[in-house]
Amino acid sequence: MHKTDFLVIGSGIAGLTYALKVASKFPDKKVLVMTKATADETNTKYAQGGIAVVNDLENDSFAKHIEDTLIAGDGLCNEKVVEIVVKEGPERVQEIIDWGARFDREDDGDYKRGKEGGHSEFRILHHKDVTGKEMERALLDAVAGQTNIEFIKHCFVIDIITQHHMGYLITKSTPDVECYGVYVLNLETNRIEKILSKITLLATGGNGQVYRTTTNPSIATGDGVSMVYRAKGRIENMEFIQFHPTALYEPGVRGQAFLITEAVRGDGGILRNKNGEAFMERYDERKDLAPRDIVARAIDSEMKRTGTEHVWLDCRHFTKEKFTEHFPNIYEKCLSIGIDITQHMIPVAPAAHYSCGGIKTDEWGRSSIKSLYACGECASTGLHGANRLASNSLLEAMVFAHKCFIDAAEKVKDISFNHSLPDWNAEGTTEPREMILITQSLKELQLIMSDYVGIVRNDVRLQRASRRLDLLWEETEQLYQSSSLSPQLLELRNMITVGYLIVKGASFRKESRGLHYNTDYPGKSHLVQNIVL
Ligand code: FAD
Ligand code: SIN
Repeated sequence: MHKTDFLVIGSGIAGLTYALKVASKFPDKKVLVMTKATADETNTKYAQGGIAVVNDLENDSFAKHIEDTLIAGDGLCNEKVVEIVVKEGPERVQEIIDWGARFDREDDGDYKRGKEGGHSEFRILHHKDVTGKEMERALLDAVAGQTNIEFIKHCFVIDIITQHHMGYLITKSTPDVECYGVYVLNLETNRIEKILSKITLLATGGNGQVYRTTTNPSIATGDGVSMVYRAKGRIENMEFIQFHPTALYEPGVRGQAFLITEAVRGDGGILRNKNGEAFMERYDERKDLAPRDIVARAIDSEMKRTGTEHVWLDCRHFTKEKFTEHFPNIYEKCLSIGIDITQHMIPVAPAAHYSCGGIKTDEWGRSSIKSLYACGECASTGLHGANRLASNSLLEAMVFAHKCFIDAAEKVKDISFNHSLPDWNAEGTTEPREMILITQSLKELQLIMSDYVGIVRNDVRLQRASRRLDLLWEETEQLYQSSSLSPQLLELRNMITVGYLIVKGASFRKESRGLHYNTDYPGKSHLVQNIVL
């Protein structure tokens, strides 16, 4: 059994930023970071475009970044949180620069600033087209230099431990539900262990894997959200799934889709339909740089209208030198599949990309469960509202990691370990007879979510999804109760829960707002509210 004052689940930008801060404030205390995969296999590593931040006060302002964020969020952002994130952003970005992250600079030393959909100014700092990889590298290097951080890889967190595990009946209205630690499946020993913690941070990232096509890596299965829902914590705005307009379309390729960053359109890339028409001007005056929800819906509509599985991104007017200066990784990837972007257009289609909702937190990153914080993509802080502004999530993760750190540092002295928790009970479970059942259920889930709960929804589709998910849930629950646990089974169970929460949120929202578009309710309701489950 492990015991730690500070437990961090997740090794992306949110978890590592928080861990570094706590570890340097409390050099005599151990900080335990856990991840179910390798250290850097995170959504963070794949971030391309960069981090939105106001650091050129001559041409940009906090007011403009705040306004862009609010416009994208379509009436559901928490304005106080937007202000906090935008205004504290520059200080947090300076911290990661101090930890060693490098952002591209002009010859005169000033930062290069990119632009993406919904931004009124050039404000996105980046490292070529591999910004996330560079930030993750810097964070991991800094963590390696911090002797009181213990890093455990290949450890799958199953559930947070609360009074429920001590035999108490917990419901959504039980006050003071408290987190005492977690149960984890150690993937190296295949044993289930108990970890006691005074304060736990969930930084488990997104849930794109719930859909058939996603830009997210395989770790993005919504585990944190699902754990908190099971523990009767509050989850909100799950219906707001952001589809990135331009994932590379590669027929026959399953799993993670390669992203073509929006910054390519920021630099002048043009979307064209099957007939070569630059169609975005028919949909929005901001054309290719309209916010993502608008561009993704426009592409979806063009694909349906012209009967194709993708549209084109035209970069043929770029020189190789200009393109590769900013996008060397995309250039190489396209070339590897026979696309020379100076001569051929790039086939692109929307893919599930980002979860705007998640574990409901307050402005200090506190979840509704005591001693449990959440930040990064798994959290719903109020920043994104109904639609996230491009490149605001790396920023949000850093700002909220700091907020969680400030609050946790203050609280930890008043919290004691709970030593009366039972060990995990695996009695009566056996090896599953057919692992293939899990794989098949996963495929079914992804089909249901993509076919019925995608970019454009309606009530009949949502009802279908709901009925089909009920059956999948029932079958998976039976398997879970009777089988020894595997990461595949745990992820399937979590993803079905996440699918259920997305469908539930979407069904409750009788309007079209931001990323949620329901053809039965094409307008906005005057009842502007967050849906809390
Ligand atoms: P992650 O970085 O995803 O880390 C999650 C961690 O939790 C991982 O270590 C994982 O193993 C661990 N974990 C999950 N479940 C468990 C479990 N059960 N047990 C143990 N460990 C667990 N945002 C921007 O702002 N700018 C961009 O340019 C940008 N580009 C993007 C490009 C792509 C292709 C993608 C996919 C996303 C992009 N985003 C971008 C979004 C952004 O990268 C993510 O929202 C952000 O990195 C999430 O960070 P995180 O720390 O919350 O989670
Ligand atoms: C991109 O580079 O297009 C992704 C940016 C983001 O998701 O914020």
